[in-house]
This record gives sequence, structure tokens and C-alpha cells, in this order.
Amino acid sequence: MHTPEFGVEGQSVVVTGASRGIGRAIAETFAAAGADVTICSRSMERVGPVAEGIDRADGGRALAVECDVRDRGDVEALFEAAVEEFGRVDALVSNAGGEFVAAFEDISENGWEAVTDLNLGGTYRCAQVAGEYMRADGGGTIVNLASVNGQHPAPGESHYGAAKAGVIRLTETLAVEWAEYGIRVNCIAPGLIQTPGVAETLGIDESEVPPREQVDRRIGHPEEIADLVCFLCSPAASFLNGETVTAKGVPRAGNAMNVDLGLQ
Ligand SMILES: NC(=O)c1ccc[n+]([C@@H]2O[C@H](COP(=O)([O-])OP(=O)(O)OC[C@H]3O[C@@H](n4cnc5c(N)ncnc54)[C@H](OP(=O)(O)O)[C@@H]3O)[C@@H](O)[C@H]2O)c1
Repeated sequence: MHTPEFGVEGQSVVVTGASRGIGRAIAETFAAAGADVTICSRSMERVGPVAEGIDRADGGRALAVECDVRDRGDVEALFEAAVEEFGRVDALVSNAGGEFVAAFEDISENGWEAVTDLNLGGTYRCAQVAGEYMRADGGGTIVNLASVNGQHPAPGESHYGAAKAGVIRLTETLAVEWAEYGIRVNCIAPGLIQTPGVAETLGIDESEVPPREQVDRRIGHPEEIADLVCFLCSPAASFLNGETVTAKGVPRAGNAMNVDLGLQ
């Protein structure tokens, strides 16, 4: 009888933007499943305690690195540190991202550059550096964090939507180019997920978030994205490549929560 292989135990995984939110949940979930995680954010003060918490819990080990994904040298140093500590890199989760909401006519050159370079440029840079190690090691998996805003237009999200649409196409292209090296590249397009970033922008209180058991009309939990990332990096997902998995609770167009939150 066939036993499904959902495990990621023993993998060495790099997770960007893991000081809080979805990235933190991804790092903690991988570690709980027995993976070794190298996590980064722009501040050791913020990402260091996350690694310490992981090391205190049962499961895989954690290494924290200060790294701004907009900086090529930082990204190279991140992967060097991961390889030095854990011997190799099996998986990359390009999660670092962010945005501000603004009408297109109000977005300055700086604002456009900041959002596109973080969300798309950071994904490009991390994949390029990770790919060097993975090609030399005979394979790996990459999961990029896109967004439903990269699939459907939303007012105030022109820069972010363009960048996330770019992440989706970059994912598809890399999957085609790197299949011959044994590297699978997929991405996840989350709907609205309760994170500190969303709380800052929309002011949603953690206590207002319904439990995972509720199917219809709710905001998502970071752990629901983390579980999906683990699946995509596991052998169980071996025939998934170049896909965008949309995770938004209900199959409506756009972000299912927009109506309830009065965003458009
Ligand atoms: N939450 C949602 O509803 C939602 C929906 C769709 C897609 N997403 C995507 O999911 C990802 C995570 O979102 P989130 O809501 O968890 O965000 P968040 O709560 O704002 O956390 C963002 C994380 O990224 C790090 N970060 C920001 N800029 C960075 C940089 N230049 N270099 C390295 N790390 C950086 C932050 O750490 P420091 O500040 O310490 O650097 C933080 O750990 C993003 O790509 C986002 O676009 C989120």
C-alpha cells in the first residue's frame, strides 16, 4: 500500500521575512516538522528571538541572519550562512514582501521602486542565489509568496499587483527553465491573512479572526499558508511544478473578504 510522503524532516530551508506574520509561521511550522530553518529579516533584533524560540521547542534547528532581500550582497551572505550551518539548501521560501495602498496617480518613482524591488526584485535575487546551490546539489524546491492581487485587480494595489503578477510569471518561467536540474518552483497566492502587516494596514484585531473550521467568509490564519508551503516542499507534491495555488477560503473572484472589509 502507498503511504503519502508529507514530511519535510531533515530538510534545510531558507525562509525570508520570518520575523513575524506568514514567514514566522512558515519557519515555525517547518521546524516543528523537523526541518532546519535559516530565517532572515532586516533586523536581527526582530528575527533573532524567533530563531531562539524555535531552538527552545522540539524539532529542527534555527539560524537567524540579518538580510535585506533588496541587497544582493545580503542575499548571498544569507545562503552562505545557511550552507555553512546546515550543509546545503533544500528549499527556499521567498516570503519577504510588503506594500502600501495608494491610488496609481499618487505613486512616486520611489514608492513604485520600493514595492516592486521588495516583492519582485527580492524574489528574483533569492531564487537566483538559491538556484546556484540547488543546481550544484542536484535539485531543490522553491515556493514564492504571490497574492490574489497578482491575479485580480484591486484599487490602490497597482504597484503591488504588478509585482505579484510578476512573481507568478517568474515562478512559471523558472519551473520550465530549471526542471532539468531537479528544481520545482511553485507559488502561493493568499487571500487576506491575519498578520501584523495586515493588522497595521486594516486594523483587524486578532480576536476577531474566526477559527480554521469556519469555511465561508473569513480571514485566513498564517498557519494555513505555512501548512501549504510545507506540502509544496514535501515529496507528496513531486508532480506539482510551475503552479500557483490560490488560498483564499472561498472560490470567488478576487479577495473573498473585500466585500466584508469594505475595501472596494
Ligand atoms: N497577509 C496577507 O493578507 C497577504 C496576502 C497575500 C500575500 N501576502 C504576502 O505574504 C508575505 C508575508 O506577508 P505578511 O502579511 O506576513 O507580512 P508582514 O506581517 O508585514 O511581515 C513581513 C515580513 O517581511 C520582512 N521584511 C520586510 N521587508 C524585508 C526586506 N527588505 N528584506 C527582508 N525581510 C523583509 C519583515 O521583517 P522586518 O521588518 O524585520 O524586516 C517581516 O518579517 C508577503 O510577501 C506578502 O506580500 C500576504
